Amino acid sequence: MPKIIVALDGFSSCGKSTTAKRVAAKLHYAFVDTGAMYRAVALYFHRNQIDLANKDAVADALQHIDITFEFNQQRQASDTILNGENVEVEIRKMYISEMVSQVAAITIVRRAMVAQQQQMGKKKGIVMDGRDVGTVVFPDAEVKIFMTAQPHIRAQRRKLELLQKGEDLPLEDIIENLRMRDEIDSNREEGPLKRAEDAIDLDTSFRSMDEQVDFVLAQVERVKREN
Ligand code: DC
Repeated sequence: MPKIIVALDGFSSCGKSTTAKRVAAKLHYAFVDTGAMYRAVALYFHRNQIDLANKDAVADALQHIDITFEFNQQRQASDTILNGENVEVEIRKMYISEMVSQVAAITIVRRAMVAQQQQMGKKKGIVMDGRDVGTVVFPDAEVKIFMTAQPHIRAQRRKLELLQKGEDLPLEDIIENLRMRDEIDSNREEGPLKRAEDAIDLDTSFRSMDEQVDFVLAQVERVKREN
C-alpha cells in the first residue's frame, strides 16, 4: 500500500498532537509535531535574548538552531531535542506559550521550519500536525483534517494538561492565552492558521480521543481505497 501524508491542522488544544501521535502509531508512520519546532525556536530566542524585531539577529540565531526528535520509550512519544538538549518539558511551559505565536509569525522563522518539515515528509508515511501543514507545508497531502473545538472546552483541556505538568494557572489566563494565540496565528502574513479548502472538518468538542483517532483513520482508509 503506498504511503501517504496526513495533515492535521487547527486551533491550539483541540487534541491535534495526541490524535496525530495515535494515528501515526496505528499506521506505523512517522509523527511530527510542528508546534514543538516553533516552541523550540522560541526557547532558543528567549535564552539568547534575541530581539524579535531585529531581522539579522533572528537570521543569525536560526543558523545556530538544530531541532530533532527522539523517541522516548517511557512516554511512548517523541521528545523535542534542541541542539542536543532534551527540551520537551521546558517548551510546554506557559512562558513559552506566551511568546511562541510572536516567534511563529516571523517569516524567516517559518520558511526555515517549513523547509525542514518538507524534508521530513519527502518519503511520505508521515502524520504532521500544525497550523499550515495542509495549506503551505504539504498542499498536496492526501488527507487533510481541520480540527476545532469550543473555546471553553479547549481551555479546560489545556488547564488539565498544564496541571499534569505541575503548572496550576487560572482558567482566565489560559482562555486569554488561547485567544491571543488564535488571533496572532490567524492574522499573520506568512502561513496563517487557515482551513485548507479541501480539508475535512473535525469538531472535537464532544468526541473522545478514540473517536477522533477513528475519524482520521477512516479518512485514511477512504483515500487509500480511492487511489
Ligand atoms: O501546537 P502548539 O500549540 O504547540 O503550537 C505552538 C505555537 O506555534 C502556536 O501558537 C502557533 C505556532 N505554530 C505555527 O505557527 N505553525 C505550525 N505549523 C505549528 C505551530
